[in-house]
Order: sequence, then structure tokens, then C-alpha cells
Amino acid sequence: MLNVNQVSKIYEGKVAYRALTDIDLNVEDNEFVGIMGPSGSGKTTLLNIIATIDEPTTGNITINGDNPHLLKKDKLAKFRRRELGFVFQDFNLLHTLTVEENMVLPLTLDGKKVKEMKEKAHQFAEKLGISEIMKKRIYEISGGQAQRAAVARAMIHSPKLLLADEPTGNLDSRSSKDVMEMLSTLNQKEQTTMLLVTHDPQAASYCNRVVFIRDGRFYSEIHRGDNRQAFFQKIIDTLSLMGGDANDFSSVRV
Ligand SMILES: Nc1ncnc2c1ncn2[C@@H]1O[C@H](COP(=O)(O)OP(=O)(O)OP(=O)(O)O)[C@@H](O)[C@H]1O
Ligand SMILES: [Mg+2]
Repeated sequence: MLNVNQVSKIYEGKVAYRALTDIDLNVEDNEFVGIMGPSGSGKTTLLNIIATIDEPTTGNITINGDNPHLLKKDKLAKFRRRELGFVFQDFNLLHTLTVEENMVLPLTLDGKKVKEMKEKAHQFAEKLGISEIMKKRIYEISGGQAQRAAVARAMIHSPKLLLADEPTGNLDSRSSKDVMEMLSTLNQKEQTTMLLVTHDPQAASYCNRVVFIRDGRFYSEIHRGDNRQAFFQKIIDTLSLMGGDANDFSSVRV
């Protein structure tokens, strides 16, 4: 459903910086793919290009056969709203709104009826275990709850592709596990294709496949099979083989 073809990215500036080189990535329908690599290796750059927040310098991407970068502004906005869901590391929730108001925001933009939106929001809240906090404002809830609310907002319009950048970055291991189990369930039940950038091997072990990049280039990839614990170990082994700043893998310390 997603094809990344020979994508390179050079940030122009006082000093031009090559962030990605010839990245190829094919993601199947309903796949759950992790992207790992040291800090500065280009993960967010790649996700932003797929999210059409940023343009590739060369190469292209297609989502279900269409190249979203070729769409005109209004079509692109619609495409993003309908087909894609985003979860950012800093959540991007509006702090003075309630959880419920944040959740229905993407639907509001699409002109859905209030009753329909609320029903949808409550269905999702139930699924994600945040029914009790729907009326609370974002500044009144915990980081883990905010992260779940962010996932709920990203999923409420049933996007075909969910893009998540460090969705467990600020969470303790228990909340992180909750969020990953939730994503895993959504991946299976809603048939959503997912792309997850993470530094956390435990989080990555929920994916079907993990792609490693280093210095903006494809490094290797590994598949899960049916044993998550063995996959977790393989992820740690690959990270340590790949090297990089020890701080990048704070939970590993190999
Ligand atoms: N707008 C920009 N202009 C210039 N250089 C940039 C820009 N954004 C990112 N870079 C550089 O591109 C490289 C890749 O950045 P990117 O944010 O994709 O890394 P990352 O893998 O997401 O790292 P992290 O794990 O720390 O989030 C880095 O060296 C970064 O400094
Ligand atoms: Mg990043």
C-alpha cells in the first residue's frame, strides 16, 4: 500500500545536509512496520516525507498507487485528512480542549455531524480505555493518558495508514506497553497499516517487521515471526551491531 522509491533528502541551508540516501521501502496492506536507527539517522525525515509534510529531493512515494506529493493543495489536505493518521512525539493535542474535543477535531474538519462524531469518539474511548477522562482537559491528564488520547484522535477517522513518531517516547514501561498493545489491536481489528518510529526495542517488538536505517541509508531489516521475545532479542542484537550513540538506546545498554 506504501511504496518509497529511491528517496533522497537534502536539506538546503547555509550548509546543505544529506539526511536520506536512496531509501526503498515497500509496506503491505495491514503491515505493522517499525523504523529504528540512531539519533539523526533520518527517521523523522522519512516519516515527514511519507506524511507529505516534507518533499523528497529525489525519488518518490506512492500510497495505494497515488503519489500524494503531486496532488494540488486542497486535494492533498483532503487526502491527508482521510487516508492518514499521525501521532507525534509531543502529542500535538490542544491543551485547553477536553480529550473528547481533541478527538473529534479531525471529524469536525471533515464536516461530520456532531452526534455521529460523539458516538465515534465514545466507541474509541472505550476501546482505548480512556472513557473516564473524556471530559478532562489535556493539562489535567497524565502523559500516558495524553498519548492514548493522541492515538485515539489519529485513529478516529479510520485512516488507512497510521504514522507514529516515538509514540511511547515519554512514557514509563507500563504505559508504553499499554500504548503498543493498543496499536497492535487497532492494527489487527481496524486493518490499519502502521509505520512506527521508535528507539525502544520493546515497543518495536510489537511490529511485524523492523527496518533499520543508519546515516540516512537502509541498513537492514528483520521480521518477527511468532515469538515476540525472540524478536526483541534480535532487535537488540541488530542495534548493538549497528552501533551508534549509546544514549540512543538508553533502555538497552549493551
Ligand atoms: N529542517 C532541517 N534542516 C536541516 N537539517 C535537518 C532538518 N531536519 C533534520 N535535519 C538533519 O537531518 C538529519 C536527520 O534528522 P531526523 O530528524 O530525520 O533524525 P531522526 O532519525 O528522526 O533522529 P532522532 O532519533 O533524534 O529523532 C539530522 O542530522 C538533522 O540534524
Ligand atoms: Mg526523529
